Amino acid sequence: MKVLSVVGARPQFVKCAPVSREVREVHEEVLVHTGQHYDYLLSEVFFNDLGIPAPDHHLEVGSGSHGVQTGRMLAAIEEVIGKEEPDLVLVYGDTNSTLAGALAAAKVHVPVAHVEAGLRSFDRRMPEEVNRVLTDHCSDLLFCPTATAVRNLAAEGVTAGVHLTGDVMVDALRENLPLAKERSTVDLPPKGYYLATVHRASNTDDPAALRAIMGAFARLDLPVVFPAHPRTQKKLAEYGIAPAANVRVTEPLPYFDMLALLSGARAVLTDSGGVQKEAYILEVPCVTLRENTEWVETLEDGWNVLVGADTNRIVAEAEKVAGSPRRHSARFGDGHAAERIAAIIAEYQP
Ligand code: UD1
Repeated sequence: MKVLSVVGARPQFVKCAPVSREVREVHEEVLVHTGQHYDYLLSEVFFNDLGIPAPDHHLEVGSGSHGVQTGRMLAAIEEVIGKEEPDLVLVYGDTNSTLAGALAAAKVHVPVAHVEAGLRSFDRRMPEEVNRVLTDHCSDLLFCPTATAVRNLAAEGVTAGVHLTGDVMVDALRENLPLAKERSTVDLPPKGYYLATVHRASNTDDPAALRAIMGAFARLDLPVVFPAHPRTQKKLAEYGIAPAANVRVTEPLPYFDMLALLSGARAVLTDSGGVQKEAYILEVPCVTLRENTEWVETLEDGWNVLVGADTNRIVAEAEKVAGSPRRHSARFGDGHAAERIAAIIAEYQP
């Protein structure tokens, strides 16, 4: 089978690394990079570190409003599908690149497979939620990371082609954590710092929210390592918010450095979906700078707490979170999700 995989943003590079390897054992793969993320630290470093094959097509769509960015991708992916004539288009996660890949394929009657299907925050104001719902509803194969995701799809009437595979980020993490620890240059005492990431539009594009979050970091009892997404760096400068003395702002970090820092943190403060889940897997408490999450299992097991962009709640939860009792289980899978995905694709008859 000829599989055309579409990636474009940082979390997709992490997810596609294990899947692409398994897919190439059995199938021919054509890799398309939309160019949604184009900075070296958001893109190329992930290809290099994770050994992802060079893209066969680089669409270089770059930044833009949602309509402009998604529209450019849609047109360009349609053209690539026309040239390559794939049997299946494989998309990942919830970004504009995901939706563009799925929609371009569905419109020209090429089957779509979605890795990380069925996740819901039930917040349609998040661009990612719109991308998730629409992508799932035009997918033929839906690879769910959790049982919750399977239930979410069933509630929307989507049952055909749904497979519970486990989460491919567990595959990536299991494989790469030993390497991350070996290569790590982290010079901070274990459990002696917090790690923070902020990039959701609801936090970065609202000056009051970003100010409240940075105000909370300033009040924390330990240093805060804060690898800032380009969007966040720009907004901090635009709003004139200066990080406090205990906040160490860095460039976005490569995957290995991020894993090493995360595994040693006292707690992580984040609005990223992927980081919430990585924290759970690494047994690091997480304080989520949002009012909702698609990864409800992390809440149920007591590893995660939702605090929004409220200074007092952030400080209170960050400082108490390390002491709470917690359960842990393999709710995100066993590290073999990518193998299952490749096998299901091999058996698929459109
Ligand atoms: C995207 C995804 C989000 C994912 C995140 C991971 C959507 C709607 N959102 O958000 O789900 O969790 O990626 O990082 O697809 N920029 C750069 N350099 C880059 C890329 C972006 O400077 O390499 C800046 C641009 O100014 C751009 C802004 O960041 O306007 C936002 O980038 P965009 O691709 O729209 O979304 P992310 O915020 O990265």
